[in-house]
Amino acid sequence: MDKLVIEGGVPLTGSIEVSGSKNAALPILFSSILLTDPVCFRNIPNLRDIHTTLKLLGMLGCACEHQKGRITVTPGNLLPEAPYDLVRTMRASVLCLGPLLARIGHARVALPGGCAIGARPVDQHLKGLELMGARFELEKGYILGRCRKLHGARITFDMPTVGGTENLLMAAALAEGETILENAAREPEVVDLANFLIACGARIEGQGTSRIHVMGTNGLRSVEYAVMPDRIEAGTFLVAAGITGGELLLRQCPVNALESVILKLQDMGMVVSATPAGVLAKCARPLRCVDVTTKPYPGFPTDMQAQIMALMCLAEGAGVVEESIFENRFMHVPELVRMGGNIRISGHTVMVRGVRHLTGAQVMASDLRGGAALVLAGLAAGGITEVSRIYHLDRGYEGIEDKLAAVGARIRREKE
Ligand code: EPZ
Repeated sequence: MDKLVIEGGVPLTGSIEVSGSKNAALPILFSSILLTDPVCFRNIPNLRDIHTTLKLLGMLGCACEHQKGRITVTPGNLLPEAPYDLVRTMRASVLCLGPLLARIGHARVALPGGCAIGARPVDQHLKGLELMGARFELEKGYILGRCRKLHGARITFDMPTVGGTENLLMAAALAEGETILENAAREPEVVDLANFLIACGARIEGQGTSRIHVMGTNGLRSVEYAVMPDRIEAGTFLVAAGITGGELLLRQCPVNALESVILKLQDMGMVVSATPAGVLAKCARPLRCVDVTTKPYPGFPTDMQAQIMALMCLAEGAGVVEESIFENRFMHVPELVRMGGNIRISGHTVMVRGVRHLTGAQVMASDLRGGAALVLAGLAAGGITEVSRIYHLDRGYEGIEDKLAAVGARIRREKE
């Protein structure tokens, strides 16, 4: 296992190019199952979750090829099985369910268990696909799904679910007739998936709103598609500029998708501005704590909660962070406390009281974004911070230590 060793206290300056979005790339790669011809993708980040997805697509009968920053997926004779060994390493594997049912009418996909941040059931995915004509059984931990031909339906989600909306959007693209998704997720990654499907000939309207309308088609045509840049990676680097008192220019930064994050950082006292070259973030004076509640898009993203909490640890005053999406997404708190953070958890909220300094410590990443928060804290802390279990970070941040080192961070990867 690798760890990151960080010597904090250097203001980061320079420019960073934002990578392609993990959470847009995953559903888009799975949607290749809906096609029959090879489809070519650009701007796919080089991450562990992407490697897992390509491995799973290979097991499902697709040939995947990397060439000069492009990934080509050629769907072959499709096989219906997503094994537990892969699903347990990446819950997003369940996104193959909708496309498999739409293309071949059956699927055997391991039921994802809970993970560090919450129970994360997939009942909304199954409920929607049932309304479209699929039947499910649970057998030895596997979801067995069958259908003749999926048909359109009106589906109202109990809550806006990103993965649920994506699974049903993909299924509806090839279903017979009209599907309406109500209370759909409005996240930019859902919009990127819809845009890809539309480029392939799918008839979709309303993406980015809570009512998505899909008219099924018989087949989709292949295109070449560039995945959107990663708003959460970009947001993490904005915080890196703030927490180190530096100045960073983020190239390829999806500024519109980051509005709620940028507004909070500005409330805290950071200067964040869109320029023709990218988004410029700097921190010229002491920051102040704010209150943050995570919400579905366009609200403040749960995937940025841990990072802004790290920033608040070193801001003036006190602020409350409320997590309203996942029930257990505060695993980074005890680790930030080990670095000197003054944070108290009470149920779904935490109270952060800013301190003057954090001190380097040995800490452990418990999940992807919690791990990112520890790296951010380490960049600002006095002395050496060692973040272990960084395989969590490798799932979602492409070359994080190289990108940070290029803007001045003293950070290196070591074997534990
Ligand atoms: C996506 O997860 C992201 N993952 C997560 O990114 C992100 O935190 C999350 O959306 C929320 O924005 C990918 O895109 C691959 P949900 P997803 O379905 O789709 C409940 C990261 O760090 N729910 O929108 O799994 C669920 O438990 C991560 O990159 C049900 O109850 O999230 C949660 O409380 C981790 N039943 C809420 O809805 C369901 O059937 C939102 O979950 C589905 C969801």
